[in-house]
Amino acid sequence: MKKNIVLIGFMAVGKGAVARELCALTGRIGLDCDDMIESMYNKKIKEIFAEFGEKKFRKIEQKLATFLAKNVNNAIISTGGGFYKVKKLKKIGKVIYLKSSFDGIIKRIKSAPNYEKKLAKRPLLQDLQKARILHENRDKEYMKKADFVIVSQDKSPAKIAKEILKILKDKK
Ligand code: S3P
Repeated sequence: MKKNIVLIGFMAVGKGAVARELCALTGRIGLDCDDMIESMYNKKIKEIFAEFGEKKFRKIEQKLATFLAKNVNNAIISTGGGFYKVKKLKKIGKVIYLKSSFDGIIKRIKSAPNYEKKLAKRPLLQDLQKARILHENRDKEYMKKADFVIVSQDKSPAKIAKEILKILKDKK
């Protein structure tokens, strides 16, 4: 049985920050799907979208998912917001959905010191009206794909990480 923890959820909900806390608390290795894809192509996600298109990006995510399911164990894996669509997601590990309202996400991103950079690097967050609709639709999908749901809004990454570890321990 795979022991990876897989964080899914909408763009900028804080998957990366929670993953880093989980790594600190458990001593496990952390892997970020977007970072891995950027390394594979030596390009930023934004450039991959612009040069190859979203469809190709999703294919790369699937390739990575298959690799993770086959070869990686005991890691903390943070994913891009659309990674939940990959086939056999649960084969990778325990899937945790970090759930927040859209306004909560926008509030979070706006409070970051490097707000503009965080916004600019996300092609699907450029049009906030479209992103709000995407969030509404995806929330249902994330709920279906998750083993556990954690409401992350207004909580620190450290608190969320502790909650995740408690849930996983209690449900053993
Ligand atoms: C995407 C989310 C991004 C990145 C890409 C597509 C999405 O990751 O994978 O821009 O479809 O929601 P973050 O969730 O880290 O922003």
